[in-house]
Amino acid sequence: MSFQWPIGFERCPKEDWAETPLEELALKYDTVEEHGWYDNLDTTVELLIKNLNTGDIIIDYSGGTGILSQRLLNTANRDDFGILIVDSSPKFLRLALEKFHDNEQVSFRLIKYLRDEKRLQLLDEVLTKEIIDYGIYMICSTNAIHLYNQLDETLTAWHRVLRPNGRIHIQSGNIRNPSAGEDTWIIDETVEHIHRAAMKIVLEQPEWADYAMALEDEEYMKSHDVLRDKYFLPVRPIDTYLDALTSSGFQIDKHMVKTIPAIVEEWYSFLSVYHEGVLGWVGGAERITGKKASEDVIEERKKLIRISMNRIFSEEDSFQASWTYIEALKSV
Ligand SMILES: C[S@@+](CC[C@H](N)C(=O)[O-])C[C@H]1O[C@@H](n2cnc3c(N)ncnc32)[C@H](O)[C@@H]1O
Repeated sequence: MSFQWPIGFERCPKEDWAETPLEELALKYDTVEEHGWYDNLDTTVELLIKNLNTGDIIIDYSGGTGILSQRLLNTANRDDFGILIVDSSPKFLRLALEKFHDNEQVSFRLIKYLRDEKRLQLLDEVLTKEIIDYGIYMICSTNAIHLYNQLDETLTAWHRVLRPNGRIHIQSGNIRNPSAGEDTWIIDETVEHIHRAAMKIVLEQPEWADYAMALEDEEYMKSHDVLRDKYFLPVRPIDTYLDALTSSGFQIDKHMVKTIPAIVEEWYSFLSVYHEGVLGWVGGAERITGKKASEDVIEERKKLIRISMNRIFSEEDSFQASWTYIEALKSV
């Protein structure tokens, strides 16, 4: 029998975000769907399907533009379960809605920012009573947990919402894991290496001399370092996540690391969208200087990112990155 949402549950509440036009950054982000390194989702899809029962609701927490949900629906090829995409970005969620508004298996909830309390809503503040009473059996979070600054509160809320014996499936490429192969990258850490390579190139090669002066301005460079860390957050070790899960009441079932190959050109195409975060000091990031860089400067910035990538990846077409997968249980 096809899946039915609980009576009284609205698949998509009538909120402003659902009425806005599609936004460019979300559309650009969504192109990662075609990238080889996005095979990082396959293991999570397999695990979710292995544990799936008729009538289950899976929460795709930080589901973004719905890439994981789409793969899950395609691979599972069954209509007896529901997916609730929950995300803090109205723009990403708007694109997910565009993809699935006619698919009765998928519903949507925005995590709102509570201005007075200076925090995001927690999962049990986002969900309505019908859903919590129905029961949630699985929560997954892909390529996102490294972004949570209220990690303990987020996991404790997941624990409150899950049914006994419920499962969580987490993965991220931005977790330091001692089991990862020595020759594999933490994907976001490539950015720091690109930045260092770019500084050398600017000093070595006369064609980049216009940007060399900036390197001598300590304050200017420092503020761009801070900006880079906002785009690409400092990596936390796996124990941070395992400890937070345990102290939130979860039992760790398994954790593992996988090596995912990434094509340099595809990773460049992703990074070039965030050029200001990667090499903002080339021409000055608007968020720091208050001045928009010209199109020509932005092109040069992107060119330098690409050249620096050739250098750090020794002119190879691809590199290996490591992804960490964690499964945990809410024991009865
Ligand atoms: C890199 S995207 C991953 C999207 C999707 N899960 C995937 O694998 O393609 C990260 C997502 O996490 C969301 N996000 C960022 N910070 C968050 C937070 N503190 N709580 C919940 N979601 C967050 C973003 O809006 C974005 O959709």
